[in-house]
Amino acid sequence: MTPGPRLLWGTGVAVVAVLAVAVALMWKPAIAPIGAPPVTSFDAQTKLAGARVVALGDCIVCHTAKGGQPFAGGLPLATPFGTIYATNITPDVETGIGNWSLEAFTRAVRHGVARDGHLLYPAFPYIHFTRMSDGDISAAYAYLMTREPVKATAPANELIFPLNFRPLLAFWNMLFLRPGPEAADASKDVQWNRGKLLVDGLGHCASCHSPLNPIGGEKSGHAFDGGIVDGREAPALNALSAAPKPWTQAQLVTYLRTGRASEHGAAAGPMLPVTRDLATVPEQDVQAIATYILSIQKPRPTDASPVASTSPSAQAQSGAVLFAASCAQCHGPQAPMQSIGERPTLALSTAVNASTPRNAIQMILGGIDWHGEDALNYMPAFAQVYNNRQIADLASYIRATYSQRGPWDDVEESVAKVRKENDAR
Ligand code: HEC
Ligand code: HEC
Ligand code: HEC
Repeated sequence: MTPGPRLLWGTGVAVVAVLAVAVALMWKPAIAPIGAPPVTSFDAQTKLAGARVVALGDCIVCHTAKGGQPFAGGLPLATPFGTIYATNITPDVETGIGNWSLEAFTRAVRHGVARDGHLLYPAFPYIHFTRMSDGDISAAYAYLMTREPVKATAPANELIFPLNFRPLLAFWNMLFLRPGPEAADASKDVQWNRGKLLVDGLGHCASCHSPLNPIGGEKSGHAFDGGIVDGREAPALNALSAAPKPWTQAQLVTYLRTGRASEHGAAAGPMLPVTRDLATVPEQDVQAIATYILSIQKPRPTDASPVASTSPSAQAQSGAVLFAASCAQCHGPQAPMQSIGERPTLALSTAVNASTPRNAIQMILGGIDWHGEDALNYMPAFAQVYNNRQIADLASYIRATYSQRGPWDDVEESVAKVRKENDAR
């Protein structure tokens, strides 16, 4: 039987309608370029407010290449689908956002669409930034438009097919973008609401602290369950810390503003630049973030790992010798820093008490970058000093000595895996 003309006609209309919707979603109009607005058109107060917004949003962290000019772009961001380069957001007219109107900038932040209409990759966390208020967006605009213009074009992205075809992002946006600011919860106080707004919006904390699904979106229903970013675990924020002591408001604020907290340890991975930005914003913002984070912490899931055995493994014993040689001067009980309360015992560390050795291994391999303003928070890197076996022995030793939790399994394999990942980055 052949389909009648009516059915064919109907199918034709349906196909055209679907295509029309797809095209409407995928193609956004360009917003007309403007002449670069004169620096004097922005008042000092708005620029100051913008500095705070830009710090809370970590804009400089992604938009500055290693050793490059601030906001001039070029930093490679590794994703499971290839490398995406952050673009130049200085007010250079040719290569930056100098000819973007506030309207174009707002559309980028709220909808992930560039001025010329192309869709932006969600490596730019617009699904979170969309929660920003109009006031915050125009303040960020004022701040960025009054930076030094830099001529620089980011390298072309290296993405696998078909993800190099930007219009497909329309479907990603249908799944993950809920544009617009967030309404306040009237049953909660001002500080909690400010904290939620900063965590969900500008701070985009969930983008690292949540597990991702196979297409790179945050798994729905699992916000803040913990994620992996740049080879480190970003611990769950909605559960009590793996460290023996739960977070308190004061410890959390200290951690977020300095990158370390005496009862939890130090940030050395992707969290470190976040804390360096948070160090520059008013403390009340960080207090608000901490208030909200503490409010979402539910009890820790029961611990499946066995209780530590009394006799340390052979691995841990060989680690003891290495520890005495390379680590005890800073971490041993006689270390001078500990006597002034500066370098707390590893027993309280999140990394040492975590379910997997990943962050402890990364810490030993990479140490903590020298940062002149905070010289006490420096640890040398041991990646070139010790082989996989030795790094594994050290990790097993500190686990056996400082944690009440059971030994990690297959530590040497984990070291090899982490090193391989680091090399590929
Ligand atoms: C996690 C990294 C990251 C952070 C944080 C980040 N960006 Fe971006 N941003 C990117 C990437 C990557 C792109 C390029 C996306 C693309 O090419 O599709 C981008 C693109 C943009 C664009 C579009 C520029 C253009 O030329 O198309 C604007 C505007 C922008 N970001 C502003 C900001 C602002 C403002 C902040 C801080 C509130 C910020 N970004 C924070 C990664 C980031
Ligand atoms: C020059 C001093 C120094 C040396 C040497 C050193 N560390 Fe560290 N280490 C630090 C500092 C500073 C921190 C940040 C946390 C803190 O202040 O306690 C740290 C943190 C750590 C952490 C993570 C704790 C946490 O959660 O913050 C581990 C694990 C660790 N070190 C292991 C080692 C091992 C193993 C060695 C030897 C191979 C070693 N360290 C050598 C200074 C040092
Ligand atoms: C770029 C990814 C990234 C972003 C954005 C991020 N974090 Fe983190 N965070 C991490 C990683 C990774 C760690 C593990 C420590 C490290 O980096 O060495 C961490 C550690 C932490 C810890 C310590 C957890 C523990 O139990 O020891 C807290 C608390 C935290 N982050 C809170 C936040 C908050 C609040 C925000 C938003 C304002 C945020 N993070 C944004 C990646 C991120």
